[in-house]
Amino acid sequence: MATKIELRNQRVSDAKRFFEILNNSNFKYFHVCPKDEEAEREFLRRNTKKRKNNLEYNYAILCNGKLVGGCGIKIDQHRTFIGEISYFLDEEYWSKGIVTKSVKILEKIGFQKLGLKRIKILMNLRNIGSEKVAIKCGYKKEGTMKRSIKDRDKFFDAHLYAKVMIVK
Ligand SMILES: CC(C)(COP(=O)(O)OP(=O)(O)OC[C@H]1O[C@@H](n2cnc3c(N)ncnc32)[C@H](O)[C@@H]1OP(=O)(O)O)[C@@H](O)C(=O)NCCC(=O)NCCS
Repeated sequence: MATKIELRNQRVSDAKRFFEILNNSNFKYFHVCPKDEEAEREFLRRNTKKRKNNLEYNYAILCNGKLVGGCGIKIDQHRTFIGEISYFLDEEYWSKGIVTKSVKILEKIGFQKLGLKRIKILMNLRNIGSEKVAIKCGYKKEGTMKRSIKDRDKFFDAHLYAKVMIVK
């Protein structure tokens, strides 16, 4: 069966499923697990306000209709023409090209609907899977950003990948 990947706005009713996906010790370089389902519901409740204030646009990733992950764009509040993409996926679905397809959909939203001129992706230097997603989506490596990822109480260097909209 062909795999159909779609994005839709995250819903408060997704909390249980997101908590299940994020509560995974194999997410070695992405520790955003909420403390419990209620904390996740609270995060999801704030999404509407974040959209309205042009802060963050978060989506659920659906694979053949099933919720399998999340992704989003955070808007740089100092330079609102720049967005940063991030993503995560249920481990059961890794290495099937799902996040690569999702980023391609997400960047269209960023460039075409939100009018961004530059989209970046940062990842821990050891996060090979995430780096491959950025490369496969055509992002160019611009360098290494020192101490740019805070993970729990530690700071890590990050690869900086970006794609820009060329305006003639
Ligand atoms: C990173 C992540 C988002 C990748 O999603 P995905 O849907 O599996 O990615 P894709 O299948 O589109 O592409 C990933 C590529 O990296 C490869 N890969 C994945 N993990 C890898 C690893 N640890 N080492 C080497 N390659 C790896 C995959 O095989 C695939 O390669 P291919 O294109 O040659 O088949 C997913 O593994 C994840 O959710 N990880 C935990 C959260 C996270 O780290 N998020 C990113 C924060 S910056």
